[in-house]
Amino acid sequence: MRLATVVLCLSAAAAGLALAQPADPPRGPDRVLAAPEPGSLPDDEAGRLVRRGRDLVTATYAHIGPEVADPQKRFAGNNLACGNCHLQAGTKKFGLPIYGLFESFPQYSARAGAEITIEDRIDGCMTRSMNGRALPAESPEMRAFVAYVRFLSIGYPAGRPVAGLGTGAMPELDRAADPARGRTLYAKTCLDCHNTDGQGLRRSLPTTDLGYMVPPLWGPDSFNDGAGMARLITAANFLHFNMPHGTDYLNPQLSAEDAWDLAAFMVSQPRPHRAGLDKDFPDLLAKPVDTPYGPYADGFPEQQHKYGPFAPIRAAIARLKAEKQPR
Ligand code: HEC
Ligand code: HEC
Repeated sequence: MRLATVVLCLSAAAAGLALAQPADPPRGPDRVLAAPEPGSLPDDEAGRLVRRGRDLVTATYAHIGPEVADPQKRFAGNNLACGNCHLQAGTKKFGLPIYGLFESFPQYSARAGAEITIEDRIDGCMTRSMNGRALPAESPEMRAFVAYVRFLSIGYPAGRPVAGLGTGAMPELDRAADPARGRTLYAKTCLDCHNTDGQGLRRSLPTTDLGYMVPPLWGPDSFNDGAGMARLITAANFLHFNMPHGTDYLNPQLSAEDAWDLAAFMVSQPRPHRAGLDKDFPDLLAKPVDTPYGPYADGFPEQQHKYGPFAPIRAAIARLKAEKQPR
Protein backbone atom coordinates (compact mmCIF):
# COMPACT_ATOMS: atom_id res chain seq x y z
CA MET A 1 0.00 0.00 0.00
CA ARG A 2 2.65 2.47 1.14
CA LEU A 3 4.97 1.59 -1.74
CA ALA A 4 2.13 2.08 -4.22
CA THR A 5 1.44 5.54 -2.78
CA VAL A 6 5.04 6.63 -3.13
CA VAL A 7 5.20 5.41 -6.71
CA LEU A 8 1.96 7.19 -7.58
CA CYS A 9 3.17 10.56 -6.25
CA LEU A 10 6.44 10.16 -8.09
CA SER A 11 4.88 9.29 -11.43
CA ALA A 12 2.59 12.30 -11.13
CA ALA A 13 5.62 14.50 -10.59
CA ALA A 14 7.51 12.87 -13.43
CA ALA A 15 4.61 12.81 -15.91
CA GLY A 16 5.41 16.20 -17.43
CA LEU A 17 9.12 15.48 -17.85
CA ALA A 18 10.74 14.07 -20.93
CA LEU A 19 13.63 11.73 -20.13
CA ALA A 20 16.15 10.89 -17.44
CA GLN A 21 14.93 13.23 -14.71
CA PRO A 22 15.38 12.01 -11.16
CA ALA A 23 12.05 11.23 -9.50
CA ASP A 24 11.09 14.21 -7.36
CA PRO A 25 14.20 14.13 -5.14
CA PRO A 26 13.55 14.57 -1.44
CA ARG A 27 15.10 17.69 0.10
CA GLY A 28 16.80 18.57 3.37
CA PRO A 29 16.93 15.91 6.04
CA ASP A 30 14.98 13.49 3.81
CA ARG A 31 18.01 13.25 1.53
CA VAL A 32 20.14 11.57 4.14
CA LEU A 33 19.79 8.36 6.08
CA ALA A 34 18.23 8.82 9.52
CA ALA A 35 19.25 5.43 10.91
CA PRO A 36 22.53 5.28 12.84
CA GLU A 37 25.57 3.29 11.70
CA PRO A 38 25.69 -0.33 13.00
CA GLY A 39 29.37 0.10 13.94
CA SER A 40 28.30 2.54 16.64
CA LEU A 41 26.47 -0.19 18.57
CA PRO A 42 28.04 -1.61 21.73
CA ASP A 43 29.57 -5.07 21.44
CA ASP A 44 26.78 -6.74 23.42
CA GLU A 45 24.15 -9.31 22.47
CA ALA A 46 21.73 -6.81 20.93
CA GLY A 47 24.54 -5.08 18.99
CA ARG A 48 25.86 -8.39 17.69
CA LEU A 49 22.39 -9.43 16.48
CA VAL A 50 22.09 -6.26 14.37
CA ARG A 51 25.59 -6.77 12.94
CA ARG A 52 24.70 -10.38 12.17
CA GLY A 53 21.62 -9.13 10.30
CA ARG A 54 23.73 -6.73 8.26
CA ASP A 55 26.19 -9.54 7.41
CA LEU A 56 23.30 -11.75 6.31
CA VAL A 57 22.17 -8.95 3.98
CA THR A 58 25.61 -8.24 2.48
CA ALA A 59 26.95 -11.83 2.32
CA THR A 60 23.82 -14.02 2.32
CA TYR A 61 25.55 -16.74 0.25
CA ALA A 62 28.22 -17.25 2.94
CA HIS A 63 25.74 -17.98 5.75
CA ILE A 64 22.54 -19.43 4.24
CA GLY A 65 23.53 -20.00 0.60
CA PRO A 66 23.18 -23.25 -1.36
CA GLU A 67 26.85 -24.15 -0.88
CA VAL A 68 27.34 -23.68 2.88
CA ALA A 69 28.76 -26.69 4.74
CA ASP A 70 25.69 -27.44 6.90
CA PRO A 71 22.87 -28.69 4.61
CA GLN A 72 20.28 -27.53 7.18
CA LYS A 73 21.45 -23.95 6.69
CA ARG A 74 21.00 -23.97 2.92
CA PHE A 75 17.97 -21.71 2.82
CA ALA A 76 18.79 -19.56 -0.21
CA GLY A 77 18.65 -21.35 -3.56
CA ASN A 78 21.11 -19.02 -5.29
CA ASN A 79 24.41 -17.34 -4.46
CA LEU A 80 23.07 -13.79 -4.52
CA ALA A 81 23.19 -11.49 -1.51
CA CYS A 82 20.13 -9.52 -0.41
CA GLY A 83 22.40 -6.49 -0.78
CA ASN A 84 22.85 -7.09 -4.52
CA CYS A 85 19.39 -5.55 -4.92
CA HIS A 86 18.94 -3.81 -1.55
CA LEU A 87 21.97 -1.67 -2.28
CA GLN A 88 24.45 -0.37 0.29
CA ALA A 89 23.24 -2.93 2.81
CA GLY A 90 19.67 -1.70 2.35
CA THR A 91 20.39 1.99 2.97
CA LYS A 92 20.47 3.48 -0.53
CA LYS A 93 17.61 5.77 -1.54
CA PHE A 94 15.66 4.34 -4.49
CA GLY A 95 18.07 1.37 -4.39
CA LEU A 96 15.28 -0.75 -2.83
CA PRO A 97 16.23 0.28 0.72
CA ILE A 98 14.94 -1.54 3.78
CA TYR A 99 15.12 1.36 6.27
CA GLY A 100 12.15 2.96 8.02
CA LEU A 101 9.91 -0.07 7.35
CA PHE A 102 9.58 -1.73 10.70
CA GLU A 103 6.56 0.17 12.01
CA SER A 104 4.61 -0.34 8.77
CA PHE A 105 4.32 -4.11 9.42
CA PRO A 106 2.06 -6.04 9.68
CA GLN A 107 0.60 -4.68 6.45
CA TYR A 108 -1.81 -5.84 3.75
CA SER A 109 -0.11 -7.60 0.84
CA ALA A 110 -1.97 -7.75 -2.47
CA ARG A 111 0.28 -10.63 -3.54
CA ALA A 112 -0.74 -12.72 -0.52
CA GLY A 113 -4.28 -11.32 -0.38
CA ALA A 114 -3.80 -11.04 3.40
CA GLU A 115 -1.97 -9.20 6.19
CA ILE A 116 1.71 -10.13 6.34
CA THR A 117 4.39 -9.67 9.01
CA ILE A 118 7.94 -8.43 8.40
CA GLU A 119 9.04 -12.09 8.63
CA ASP A 120 6.58 -13.00 5.84
CA ARG A 121 7.96 -10.14 3.71
CA ILE A 122 11.55 -11.30 4.17
CA ASP A 123 10.46 -14.85 3.30
CA GLY A 124 8.86 -13.42 0.15
CA CYS A 125 12.37 -12.48 -0.98
CA MET A 126 13.85 -15.76 0.33
CA THR A 127 11.51 -17.83 -1.83
CA ARG A 128 11.54 -15.60 -4.94
CA SER A 129 14.55 -13.27 -5.18
CA MET A 130 16.76 -15.84 -3.48
CA ASN A 131 14.92 -18.76 -5.15
CA GLY A 132 15.06 -20.66 -1.86
CA ARG A 133 12.90 -21.70 1.09
CA ALA A 134 11.36 -19.76 3.94
CA LEU A 135 13.35 -19.15 7.13
CA PRO A 136 11.42 -20.21 10.24
CA ALA A 137 10.28 -17.14 12.21
CA GLU A 138 12.24 -18.23 15.29
CA SER A 139 15.47 -19.13 13.46
CA PRO A 140 18.54 -17.12 14.55
CA GLU A 141 18.91 -15.84 10.95
CA MET A 142 15.35 -14.50 10.77
CA ARG A 143 15.76 -12.86 14.19
CA ALA A 144 18.94 -11.18 12.92
CA PHE A 145 17.30 -9.94 9.68
CA VAL A 146 14.41 -8.48 11.66
CA ALA A 147 16.75 -6.88 14.22
CA TYR A 148 18.62 -5.20 11.35
CA VAL A 149 15.43 -3.89 9.69
CA ARG A 150 14.28 -2.64 13.08
CA PHE A 151 17.64 -0.92 13.67
CA LEU A 152 17.40 0.76 10.24
CA SER A 153 14.02 2.14 11.31
CA ILE A 154 15.42 4.15 14.24
CA GLY A 155 14.85 7.83 13.54
CA TYR A 156 11.82 7.23 11.27
CA PRO A 157 8.69 8.25 13.19
CA ALA A 158 5.82 5.77 12.79
CA GLY A 159 3.06 6.91 10.45
CA ARG A 160 5.19 9.46 8.54
CA PRO A 161 5.93 8.66 4.89
CA VAL A 162 9.51 7.45 4.39
CA ALA A 163 11.41 9.16 1.55
CA GLY A 164 13.36 7.09 -0.98
CA LEU A 165 11.72 3.67 -0.60
CA GLY A 166 11.39 1.38 -3.62
CA THR A 167 13.05 2.19 -6.91
CA GLY A 168 11.68 5.63 -7.87
CA ALA A 169 9.44 6.03 -10.89
CA MET A 170 10.42 7.47 -14.27
CA PRO A 171 8.02 8.26 -17.12
CA GLU A 172 6.67 5.26 -19.04
CA LEU A 173 6.89 4.61 -22.78
CA ASP A 174 3.80 4.66 -24.94
CA ARG A 175 5.15 1.68 -26.90
CA ALA A 176 6.05 -1.82 -25.73
CA ALA A 177 9.58 -2.06 -24.32
CA ASP A 178 11.92 -3.69 -26.84
CA PRO A 179 14.12 -6.63 -25.77
CA ALA A 180 16.02 -6.65 -29.10
CA ARG A 181 17.11 -3.03 -28.66
CA GLY A 182 17.87 -3.89 -25.01
CA ARG A 183 20.20 -6.70 -26.10
CA THR A 184 22.34 -4.26 -28.11
CA LEU A 185 22.44 -1.83 -25.19
CA TYR A 186 23.38 -4.65 -22.81
CA ALA A 187 26.46 -5.49 -24.87
CA LYS A 188 27.56 -1.86 -24.72
CA THR A 189 26.71 -0.90 -21.14
CA CYS A 190 26.41 -3.97 -18.90
CA LEU A 191 28.37 -6.87 -20.35
CA ASP A 192 31.76 -5.72 -19.06
CA CYS A 193 30.54 -6.33 -15.52
CA HIS A 194 27.57 -8.73 -15.75
CA ASN A 195 29.33 -10.93 -18.31
CA THR A 196 28.06 -12.87 -21.30
CA ASP A 197 24.75 -14.65 -20.68
CA GLY A 198 24.18 -12.33 -17.72
CA GLN A 199 26.02 -14.83 -15.56
CA GLY A 200 27.95 -12.29 -13.49
CA LEU A 201 31.46 -12.72 -12.08
CA ARG A 202 32.18 -15.18 -9.27
CA ARG A 203 34.50 -14.20 -6.44
CA SER A 204 36.15 -17.56 -5.88
CA LEU A 205 39.37 -18.89 -4.49
CA PRO A 206 40.33 -22.47 -5.38
CA THR A 207 38.78 -23.96 -2.23
CA THR A 208 36.02 -21.59 -1.25
CA ASP A 209 33.06 -19.86 -2.74
CA LEU A 210 32.68 -16.22 -1.84
CA GLY A 211 29.63 -15.33 -3.87
CA TYR A 212 29.75 -12.81 -6.70
CA MET A 213 31.75 -9.67 -7.42
CA VAL A 214 28.97 -8.90 -9.90
CA PRO A 215 25.72 -10.85 -9.51
CA PRO A 216 23.98 -12.76 -12.32
CA LEU A 217 20.90 -11.22 -13.96
CA TRP A 218 19.33 -14.41 -15.29
CA GLY A 219 20.06 -18.14 -15.59
CA PRO A 220 20.02 -20.91 -12.96
CA ASP A 221 21.75 -18.96 -10.14
CA SER A 222 19.53 -15.86 -10.38
CA PHE A 223 16.18 -14.76 -8.91
CA ASN A 224 13.12 -16.72 -10.05
CA ASP A 225 10.19 -15.67 -12.23
CA GLY A 226 8.03 -14.82 -9.20
CA ALA A 227 10.47 -12.14 -7.94
CA GLY A 228 9.76 -8.40 -7.96
CA MET A 229 12.87 -7.84 -10.12
CA ALA A 230 11.32 -10.06 -12.82
CA ARG A 231 8.66 -7.37 -13.35
CA LEU A 232 9.40 -4.75 -16.00
CA ILE A 233 8.44 -1.60 -14.08
CA THR A 234 10.46 -2.55 -11.01
CA ALA A 235 13.46 -3.67 -13.07
CA ALA A 236 13.46 -0.63 -15.40
CA ASN A 237 13.30 1.89 -12.55
CA PHE A 238 15.93 0.01 -10.57
CA LEU A 239 18.25 0.19 -13.60
CA HIS A 240 17.50 3.84 -14.34
CA PHE A 241 18.27 4.99 -10.81
CA ASN A 242 21.06 2.54 -9.90
CA MET A 243 22.96 1.11 -12.88
CA PRO A 244 25.69 1.11 -14.11
CA HIS A 245 26.86 0.37 -10.57
CA GLY A 246 27.61 3.56 -8.66
CA THR A 247 24.76 5.56 -10.24
CA ASP A 248 22.18 7.08 -7.91
CA TYR A 249 18.82 8.79 -8.31
CA LEU A 250 20.38 12.27 -8.40
CA ASN A 251 22.50 11.35 -11.44
CA PRO A 252 20.86 8.70 -13.63
CA GLN A 253 23.14 7.51 -16.45
CA LEU A 254 20.67 5.55 -18.58
CA SER A 255 17.92 7.46 -20.39
CA ALA A 256 14.41 6.33 -19.48
CA GLU A 257 14.00 4.78 -22.92
CA ASP A 258 17.23 2.78 -22.65
CA ALA A 259 16.35 1.61 -19.12
CA TRP A 260 12.94 0.31 -20.31
CA ASP A 261 14.51 -1.63 -23.21
CA LEU A 262 17.37 -3.00 -21.09
CA ALA A 263 14.86 -4.21 -18.50
CA ALA A 264 12.81 -5.80 -21.31
CA PHE A 265 15.89 -7.74 -22.44
CA MET A 266 16.58 -8.82 -18.85
CA VAL A 267 13.03 -10.07 -18.19
CA SER A 268 12.95 -11.87 -21.57
CA GLN A 269 15.81 -14.16 -20.52
CA PRO A 270 15.43 -17.62 -18.88
CA ARG A 271 15.44 -17.96 -15.07
CA PRO A 272 14.27 -20.50 -12.46
CA HIS A 273 10.51 -21.09 -12.35
CA ARG A 274 8.50 -20.84 -9.15
CA ALA A 275 5.53 -23.21 -8.92
CA GLY A 276 2.05 -21.96 -8.00
CA LEU A 277 2.39 -18.38 -9.30
CA ASP A 278 -1.22 -18.50 -10.54
CA LYS A 279 -2.26 -18.25 -6.87
CA ASP A 280 -0.52 -14.88 -6.36
CA PHE A 281 -2.73 -11.77 -6.14
CA PRO A 282 -6.05 -13.52 -5.43
CA ASP A 283 -7.82 -10.21 -6.16
CA LEU A 284 -6.92 -9.91 -9.84
CA LEU A 285 -7.87 -6.23 -9.94
CA ALA A 286 -5.09 -5.59 -7.39
CA LYS A 287 -2.48 -7.40 -9.52
CA PRO A 288 0.34 -5.05 -10.67
CA VAL A 289 -0.04 -4.38 -14.40
CA ASP A 290 3.50 -5.65 -15.10
CA THR A 291 3.03 -9.07 -13.45
CA PRO A 292 4.48 -11.33 -16.17
CA TYR A 293 2.23 -14.30 -15.35
CA GLY A 294 -1.55 -14.77 -15.43
CA PRO A 295 -4.36 -15.15 -14.74
CA TYR A 296 -5.53 -11.61 -15.52
CA ALA A 297 -8.96 -10.01 -15.20
CA ASP A 298 -8.42 -7.36 -17.88
CA GLY A 299 -8.34 -9.40 -21.11
CA PHE A 300 -4.85 -8.22 -22.16
CA PRO A 301 -2.34 -10.92 -23.20
CA GLU A 302 0.67 -11.94 -21.11
CA GLN A 303 2.95 -10.28 -23.68
CA GLN A 304 1.55 -6.80 -22.99
CA HIS A 305 1.71 -7.32 -19.22
CA LYS A 306 5.34 -8.25 -19.63
CA TYR A 307 6.50 -5.42 -21.92
CA GLY A 308 3.78 -2.75 -21.85
CA PRO A 309 2.45 -0.30 -22.84
CA PHE A 310 0.63 -0.23 -19.50
CA ALA A 311 -1.73 2.75 -19.80
CA PRO A 312 -4.42 0.77 -21.71
CA ILE A 313 -4.25 -2.02 -19.10
CA ARG A 314 -4.66 0.48 -16.25
CA ALA A 315 -7.66 2.04 -18.01
CA ALA A 316 -9.30 -1.40 -18.40
CA ILE A 317 -8.71 -2.21 -14.73
CA ALA A 318 -10.14 1.16 -13.66
CA ARG A 319 -13.25 0.43 -15.75
CA LEU A 320 -13.67 -3.01 -14.19
CA LYS A 321 -13.28 -1.55 -10.70
CA ALA A 322 -15.89 1.13 -11.43
CA GLU A 323 -18.33 -1.55 -12.69
CA LYS A 324 -17.88 -3.42 -9.42
CA GLN A 325 -18.95 -0.38 -7.36
CA PRO A 326 -22.60 -0.56 -6.25
CA ARG A 327 -24.56 2.28 -7.88
C1 HEC B 1 16.88 -9.91 -7.03
C2 HEC B 1 16.71 -8.75 -6.19
C3 HEC B 1 16.39 -8.95 -4.72
C4 HEC B 1 17.07 -9.72 -3.79
C5 HEC B 1 18.29 -10.58 -4.01
C6 HEC B 1 16.37 -9.55 -2.53
N1 HEC B 1 15.31 -8.70 -2.69
FE1 HEC B 1 14.07 -7.99 -1.22
N2 HEC B 1 13.00 -6.97 -2.60
C7 HEC B 1 13.28 -6.90 -3.96
C8 HEC B 1 12.27 -6.12 -4.62
C9 HEC B 1 12.22 -5.82 -6.13
C10 HEC B 1 11.36 -5.69 -3.62
C11 HEC B 1 10.12 -4.84 -3.82
C12 HEC B 1 9.10 -5.82 -4.30
C13 HEC B 1 7.87 -5.26 -4.90
O1 HEC B 1 7.94 -4.26 -5.62
O2 HEC B 1 6.83 -5.89 -4.64
C14 HEC B 1 11.87 -6.24 -2.36
C15 HEC B 1 11.27 -6.01 -1.12
C16 HEC B 1 11.83 -6.36 0.10
C17 HEC B 1 11.37 -5.88 1.39
C18 HEC B 1 10.21 -4.91 1.60
C19 HEC B 1 10.67 -3.52 1.19
C20 HEC B 1 9.59 -2.47 1.19
O3 HEC B 1 9.87 -1.35 0.67
O4 HEC B 1 8.49 -2.73 1.68
C21 HEC B 1 12.19 -6.45 2.34
C22 HEC B 1 12.13 -6.23 3.84
C23 HEC B 1 13.15 -7.27 1.64
N3 HEC B 1 12.91 -7.18 0.28
C24 HEC B 1 14.15 -8.03 2.24
C25 HEC B 1 15.04 -8.85 1.54
C26 HEC B 1 15.99 -9.74 2.18
C27 HEC B 1 16.18 -9.89 3.68
C28 HEC B 1 16.66 -10.38 1.18
C29 HEC B 1 17.70 -11.47 1.31
C30 HEC B 1 17.27 -12.64 2.06
C31 HEC B 1 16.18 -9.85 -0.08
N4 HEC B 1 15.18 -8.96 0.18
C32 HEC B 1 16.70 -10.19 -1.34
C33 HEC B 1 14.37 -7.46 -4.60
C34 HEC B 1 15.29 -8.32 -4.01
C1 HEC C 1 30.76 -1.45 -13.08
C2 HEC C 1 30.13 -2.75 -13.09
C3 HEC C 1 28.64 -2.79 -13.40
C4 HEC C 1 28.00 -2.32 -14.54
C5 HEC C 1 28.60 -1.60 -15.73
C6 HEC C 1 26.61 -2.68 -14.38
N1 HEC C 1 26.40 -3.32 -13.18
FE1 HEC C 1 24.63 -4.08 -12.49
N2 HEC C 1 25.53 -4.57 -10.75
C7 HEC C 1 26.87 -4.45 -10.47
C8 HEC C 1 27.13 -4.87 -9.13
C9 HEC C 1 28.49 -4.93 -8.44
C10 HEC C 1 25.88 -5.22 -8.58
C11 HEC C 1 25.61 -5.69 -7.15
C12 HEC C 1 25.40 -4.48 -6.29
C13 HEC C 1 25.91 -4.64 -4.89
O1 HEC C 1 26.01 -5.76 -4.38
O2 HEC C 1 26.22 -3.58 -4.31
C14 HEC C 1 24.89 -5.04 -9.64
C15 HEC C 1 23.54 -5.31 -9.49
C16 HEC C 1 22.63 -5.33 -10.54
C17 HEC C 1 21.26 -5.80 -10.45
C18 HEC C 1 20.55 -6.35 -9.22
C19 HEC C 1 21.10 -7.68 -8.80
C20 HEC C 1 20.81 -8.83 -9.74
O3 HEC C 1 21.64 -9.75 -9.80
O4 HEC C 1 19.77 -8.85 -10.42
C21 HEC C 1 20.72 -5.66 -11.70
C22 HEC C 1 19.31 -6.00 -12.13
C23 HEC C 1 21.75 -5.08 -12.56
N3 HEC C 1 22.89 -4.90 -11.82
C24 HEC C 1 21.60 -4.83 -13.92
C25 HEC C 1 22.54 -4.11 -14.67
C26 HEC C 1 22.33 -3.70 -16.06
C27 HEC C 1 21.11 -4.04 -16.90
C28 HEC C 1 23.43 -3.00 -16.42
C29 HEC C 1 23.68 -2.26 -17.74
C30 HEC C 1 22.90 -1.05 -17.86
C31 HEC C 1 24.36 -2.99 -15.30
N4 HEC C 1 23.77 -3.68 -14.26
C32 HEC C 1 25.61 -2.42 -15.32
C33 HEC C 1 27.86 -4.00 -11.34
C34 HEC C 1 27.62 -3.41 -12.57
